[in-house]
Amino acid sequence: MDNLIKDIDIISAEEAQACDFKTTADENTGKTKKLYIESYGCAMNFSDSEIVASIMKENGFDTTSDFNQADVIFLNTCSIREKAEQTVRKRLSDFNRAKKSRPDMTIGVLGCMAERLKDKLLEEEKIVDVVVGPDAYRDLPNLVSAAEDGNKGVNTFLSREETYADIAPVRLNSNGVTAFISIMRGCDNMCSFCVVPFTRGRERSRDPHSIVAEAQDLFDKGYKEVTLLGQNVDSYKWSPEENNKARLEKKEGAVSTVVNFANLLEMVAQVSPLLRIRFSTSHPKDITDEVLYTMKKYDNICKYIHLPVQSGNSRVLELMNRTYDREWYLDRVRAIRDILGDECGISSDMITGFCTETEEEHQDTLSIMDIVQYDFSYMFFYSERPGTLAAKKFEDDIPLEIKKRRLAEVITKQSELSHARNKMDLGKEQLILVEGISKKSDQEYRGRNSANKVVIIPAGDYKIGDYVLVKIIDCTPATLFGEIITVNPAIG
Ligand code: SAH
Ligand code: SF4
Ligand code: F3S
Repeated sequence: MDNLIKDIDIISAEEAQACDFKTTADENTGKTKKLYIESYGCAMNFSDSEIVASIMKENGFDTTSDFNQADVIFLNTCSIREKAEQTVRKRLSDFNRAKKSRPDMTIGVLGCMAERLKDKLLEEEKIVDVVVGPDAYRDLPNLVSAAEDGNKGVNTFLSREETYADIAPVRLNSNGVTAFISIMRGCDNMCSFCVVPFTRGRERSRDPHSIVAEAQDLFDKGYKEVTLLGQNVDSYKWSPEENNKARLEKKEGAVSTVVNFANLLEMVAQVSPLLRIRFSTSHPKDITDEVLYTMKKYDNICKYIHLPVQSGNSRVLELMNRTYDREWYLDRVRAIRDILGDECGISSDMITGFCTETEEEHQDTLSIMDIVQYDFSYMFFYSERPGTLAAKKFEDDIPLEIKKRRLAEVITKQSELSHARNKMDLGKEQLILVEGISKKSDQEYRGRNSANKVVIIPAGDYKIGDYVLVKIIDCTPATLFGEIITVNPAIG
């Protein structure tokens, strides 16, 4: 049983962090120095690494996939759970060995763990030369060159304005088909379990024109799908008054009214009917019917919503400071079903064993999963984070074995639901975007349908980046299998 639980723990953590561990690819544009970046955590962090690579490229660095060849190594880190931080510490000890034979190498810790631990990281991890938080990446070239002269440096200043809107990200590990676009930074919610408001600072939205321009540029380069990223995309709000009027007035075609998330979605959807739009994360307290109707209006806005519930019990939700209760959440799910129908994919995040959670309250999480019928979920047991509201106010009183047993029950339930939801797709015709070769066989390709499910299809007269209309003929809890009907059917 212990082994099984360990495996479950690993599976859920990896799935939750789609970009659990990504490194830079080799790039040779004749620059004199080499940069290696390894990214942990969420999509926002991965997207930030693309901004970092862009800043460093301007300052004489090409990327490399081999850290032994690098002049500078960056670890872009995550603090969301204790385990995420342990992984980073272990990785730093690997780099320690490389640094012994290359003492001139500069090692930097970036991202959420840098922000949380600040200069403590320099004291704790002797090999670290620079520590830079998520809002201070423009300062990286200065800090790196100071480190090269033997001066270690820290910049963890959190900004109220920084959105890196003017920086064109260098696409790392790109399949040339799908890309992330960061639309906002920070988070103003104070979920009591969560470290993000402390590591990423106040919420701010990015100029919609720069977002549309980035989507257009990606489309012109052959990309077919963009995912708009924010911790709470539904609270996206941009207006000239709130977002630096003086700077905006100089620009031609400046937007003069408030742009909310539904407006932004519409603006990006209009780039081309051939460009798919996804977004993450939606917050149950903020997702509006206007967003749902905008999704319905545009075929190229994917019918998939990541709507984390965290717990199915209203008392626990209150302790978590999620600011909605079970009924409110179920009302939002009803709105999704009424406006977008049964085929819209819905996924969730779940935390088991939050402070004082009883068995009955845990059962409420299992029962809300049954009611909503999630397509999939990212599932975790509660990990207390220093400095959060929960760490200050509540005792982390649920024993680890109970947290893990509840997590195992939630995972088993989700696997059943995922299989049942996938079976509902059997016999249906669906449009998929081909993203790459299947992991299991080079005779098969993988794509995703609108609801974000992976669909495997046989090789045929198409290539990566094409749209293929398929008929779903088989499924497992995690994957659909299709046969080809038409390649690149008329769209729009
Ligand atoms: N902004 C997103 C979540 C970002 S963090 C939202 O509000 O939904 C991703 C997920 O990590 C959270 O949804 C939560 O399920 C999980 N998580 C956050 N803090 C955690 C903690 N202290 N212990 C366990 N899981 C946690
Ligand atoms: Fe964390 Fe809550 Fe903000 Fe999500 S909405 S990042 S869970 S504080
Ligand atoms: Fe993301 Fe982890 Fe930071 S989930 S926002 S990288 S704490």
